[in-house]
Amino acid sequence: MVQAVPVEGRRQAPVLCRSLAVTSGKGGVGKTNLTANLGVLLAGSGRRVIALDADLGLANMDVLLNIRPLYTLQHVIQGEKAIQDILLTGPAGLRVVPGASGILSLANLEEAQREALLREMHSLELMSDLLLLDTGAGIADNVLSFVLIADEVVLVTTPDPTAMTDAYAMMKVISQRRPEMPLRLAVNMSAPQEGMAVFQRLGQVAKQYLGVSVDYLGAIPNDPAVSSSIRARRPFVEAAPDSPASRSLREVARRLGFAPPAPAGRPTLISRMRDILMKK
Ligand SMILES: Nc1ncnc2c1ncn2[C@@H]1O[C@H](COP(=O)(O)OP(=O)(O)OP(=O)(O)O)[C@@H](O)[C@H]1O
Ligand SMILES: [Mg+2]
Repeated sequence: MVQAVPVEGRRQAPVLCRSLAVTSGKGGVGKTNLTANLGVLLAGSGRRVIALDADLGLANMDVLLNIRPLYTLQHVIQGEKAIQDILLTGPAGLRVVPGASGILSLANLEEAQREALLREMHSLELMSDLLLLDTGAGIADNVLSFVLIADEVVLVTTPDPTAMTDAYAMMKVISQRRPEMPLRLAVNMSAPQEGMAVFQRLGQVAKQYLGVSVDYLGAIPNDPAVSSSIRARRPFVEAAPDSPASRSLREVARRLGFAPPAPAGRPTLISRMRDILMKK
């Protein structure tokens, strides 16, 4: 007789997905733009990438990517939809989980809603190689709930002193709650030298006062290609692949450990194997 294995006794499928939370101390520094474009860039190189719009205040990734969600994370939390039902496909095959605007607090969710969210988040991990969480700004609980669950944090700032001060506050909270969390810094709307100076300053205070080290991902310039592609509702990595912003974002991807895609026409393992087998 076959015995049913209790759920808790079953071996869980290994999760190979890498999750990155993109966050900032101050609002409006470019998180959503960078997340959406990084997602498109990496989805275009054959990875299964899901971008989750985790800004519960003002979800707007759908607007940037010109997709029109019928259902959002709100329906998932309310148990009305499974995550598969709300996933949309954007440019380059990037999959997007539309965000739920106006949820006041994850902490106030009812038990059943919390369980639905947890279950559905797990299924996201199983169906992707990379999960990008675009969060809101600041150290409120709703933002931190998503930041603290990721494998790594990409902290976005600009050279603006107020943005840097708020970035430090964010690093402080993260280092208190998860001291081992890898922290990586991207400096948006900045020239390369200025970005490096911002990193050196924040990296130094993080080391000195928080005892954590920060990796540098690079600077992304203030680029008119970004604003014009927003108006055209197209990702700038597709609309302007040779723009300074696109080039810098490819460098950010490389520093995150994502090798650039093989150029078209480059020999592949299969094509080389075919050559060798055919020669016999
Ligand atoms: N590299 C850039 N060059 C030019 N403009 C940029 C750049 N990055 C962002 N912007 C501008 O900054 C604005 C804010 O960007 P975005 O919405 O991505 O920020 P955010 O950090 O997600 O904001 P929020 O905190 O409200 O979620 C955009 O409308 C865009 O016009
Ligand atoms: Mg945003």
